[in-house]
Amino acid sequence: MRIDKLIANSTSWGRKEIKQFIKKGMVLCNGKVVRDAGFHVDEACDEITLSGEKIVYSKYVYLMLNKPDGYISATFDKHYSVVTELVPSQYAHYEPFPVGRLDIDTHGLLLLTNDGDLAHRLLSPKSHVPKTYFVRSKKPVTDSDIHIFSQGIDLGDFTTMPAKLVPLEGGTNESLVTICEGKFHQVKRMYESIGNEVIYLKRISMGSLTLDESLPEGECRLLTDEELQKLMDT
Ligand code: URA
Repeated sequence: MRIDKLIANSTSWGRKEIKQFIKKGMVLCNGKVVRDAGFHVDEACDEITLSGEKIVYSKYVYLMLNKPDGYISATFDKHYSVVTELVPSQYAHYEPFPVGRLDIDTHGLLLLTNDGDLAHRLLSPKSHVPKTYFVRSKKPVTDSDIHIFSQGIDLGDFTTMPAKLVPLEGGTNESLVTICEGKFHQVKRMYESIGNEVIYLKRISMGSLTLDESLPEGECRLLTDEELQKLMDT
């Protein structure tokens, strides 16, 4: 890979600035000054420094987004705002995409990455990755609803796998539901099928990854090494 590209992909500097740094002799490859922005390096083993600071090259980016209402889970749309608009500019060159879909009005955890293999593994219907949602519904859920969810629900076009429904504090309209698929409007349709209605939906976990409640809505942060490792082990 060209050294200017590697630095651009690993830092927030633009190509123009990087060319200037190279001209000024501030960029070294394995201890030797590089004068040519097109100089080819091996990102796996060459040590690149800029002003003495080691450049840590990463091919992939993994971001946790706390998705707000009003954004669709896509990278481009003619009519609506898309979740990738919420990616901080320093990560934009990775061209991350959302792993799976949340409805436009669903809030909460969305993973964005450019790692297609991980995305594929997490989304594969065979993986049955559990996803937990916080739900505020029109009516409280009942013991009978808990039983119905646990048996799997025939929604006409498909029957869901058994789902775990946990009411929060008796008598309120709040519950947690865990499903192991990710069909279109699945949670909303499951609540409809028991004569209820989802008023507010927020995903709080996907597999081993849990929404960081200190992450404000509309903001992204990098996954920690631990979060990433656990996801990779999924
Ligand atoms: N189920 C839904 O109904 N909507 C979502 O966004 C996610 C799960």
